[in-house]
Amino acid sequence: MEPSQELREKVDAYRRQGYKVPKWKYVKTPEQIEGIRAAGVINTGVLDLVAERIRAGITTQEIDDWVAQYTEEHNAICAPYHYEGFPKHVCVSINDVVCHGIPSKKRVLMEGDIVNVDVTTIYNGYYADASRMFIIGKTSPENERIVRVAKQCLDLGLEAVKPWGFLGDVGYVIEQHASRNGFKVVRDFGGHGVGLEFHEDPFVYHYGKKGTGCLIVPGMVFTIEPMLNFKKSGVRISNLDGWTVYTKDGMPSAQWEYTVAVFEDHVEVLTK
Ligand code: MF3
Ligand code: CO
Ligand code: CO
Repeated sequence: MEPSQELREKVDAYRRQGYKVPKWKYVKTPEQIEGIRAAGVINTGVLDLVAERIRAGITTQEIDDWVAQYTEEHNAICAPYHYEGFPKHVCVSINDVVCHGIPSKKRVLMEGDIVNVDVTTIYNGYYADASRMFIIGKTSPENERIVRVAKQCLDLGLEAVKPWGFLGDVGYVIEQHASRNGFKVVRDFGGHGVGLEFHEDPFVYHYGKKGTGCLIVPGMVFTIEPMLNFKKSGVRISNLDGWTVYTKDGMPSAQWEYTVAVFEDHVEVLTK
């Protein structure tokens, strides 16, 4: 893009002082943000559809079918499909699956499951990425709590996004709220720039120190997507499918995700 001379000079001054700053190609124009917003509207429509239909007794393959069909009907593309070999249209991650769960005809949702559905939509070349948790019927109080606190971590992280602030401010509040509630933040995965590609720089850590990390510049669009575990932050990737990420300790995990756009005077969630 062509950032204004003023913006360029301001960011360059930070860079010269040693701050990490975003790559210019990922500082979006208003037109690009418009495009990502349109992708976000469809992405939210997909998640709303899943919210209406998800229940005990369905298979996770059925969720994949709903997502694929709705997306196609809206002239959009499911970004996960064949992304680096991912075999399905959406990630569905149940209980001790942290993320990147693969929908399957064999997995039937059961009462008490906690389920993350992570949808990424490409529309007119622009990407939006968001996920929600769903509780199937009634679950344990502890499961309800990790789902709730993970959502609070996302919302606090969002509140910490300020133009000319730092990504470390975001990670700091997320980790602080998680640990206050006795939970651990997963460190091996994080948020990311998004919009022109699926995963862009910068990496968005869900832990950190205030005033550190990448400068938050108007025009940036990135995800916040904290994953919380009960006791240990450690995860392992399935050696059967190479995708499914499990908690090391077998305990459940919870995650929520937004795509967020930064403007000079405000911050907007493009996926709600
Ligand atoms: N949607 C995930 C994210 O939030 C990435 C999924 S990659 C896939 O970044 F290939 F598993 F779809
Ligand atoms: Co993401
Ligand atoms: Co996602």
